[in-house]
Amino acid sequence: MKKRIFAVLLAACTVMSLAACGSGSDDAASNDSAETTESGSGEGKVQTVTDGKLTVATSPDFAPYEFYAIDEDGNPTLSGFDMDLAQYIADYMGLELEIVTVDFDGVLSELQTKSVDLGMAGLSPDEKRESIMDFSDIYYMGGQSLVTVKDNADKYNSFEAINKSDVTVGAQTGSIQLDLANENTPDADIVSLPKVTDIISELISGKMDAAYIETVVAESYQKNYPELEIVMEVPYDTEGSAIGVCKDNPELLAAVNEAIAAATEDGSLDDYIAKATDLAAGQTYEGLLDESGNVQ
Ligand code: ARG
Repeated sequence: MKKRIFAVLLAACTVMSLAACGSGSDDAASNDSAETTESGSGEGKVQTVTDGKLTVATSPDFAPYEFYAIDEDGNPTLSGFDMDLAQYIADYMGLELEIVTVDFDGVLSELQTKSVDLGMAGLSPDEKRESIMDFSDIYYMGGQSLVTVKDNADKYNSFEAINKSDVTVGAQTGSIQLDLANENTPDADIVSLPKVTDIISELISGKMDAAYIETVVAESYQKNYPELEIVMEVPYDTEGSAIGVCKDNPELLAAVNEAIAAATEDGSLDDYIAKATDLAAGQTYEGLLDESGNVQ
């Protein structure tokens, strides 16, 4: 039987390849000091927050987009098709990849404060976010779902059934799923939690009755937690995931779109999705690591 590991604690911020956290400014990373770097296309120069690096914020609680795969020795490796695509984009632009792991609302604020170049976290190109980031082209299409546990699948199977003050309905803090909860079921007891993993954990323990979760993510968690049940598709206008790009950097946005097109064209993205789907069905950890890089 697979070991089940839940993320229960919040770590403020873990940086995978650098000790600096969040603001690029404490790492001589202002735009003034940023070295210009040739993009993979050879056309134009791209400025990034840190010389020679592509700094990408993610929230690794979202398999198969981003999560930790646990190897035989119990070591966590940051995985998922967003992470492979991030590496592809960095290579394409001739930059070293640096990943910053934060909770999802932290991805939004890292972009807003221009502390990172990109946010890659299964981000929906929501128009409310357009003032704090630019969006790349869509690189993955997915849908939204209402999720509960098998035992309650007949009870919580429609908006009507869960739109009641004594029904606890979850969604991730800062996510479009939280908007969907508020729009479709405003009378429910809506609870927002920082990690999708916290939501899964509360659904399974019975603290939460239903939750709004992206379909591919819900399907992925279902493999490890078969008691979960997807009860219905939730309509959403702006389907698909895009990369959040630090605002007002058209060269960076263009290079990212070129790299996405190349990864789609050469089949890499499909390979990354297949690999991530496989890995996510194995032993995983979703959440932030502690300061020593261990699962919490
Ligand atoms: N697609 C949703 C949004 O943009 C949720 C993304 C959550 N991502 C994550 N890595 N937890 O709001």
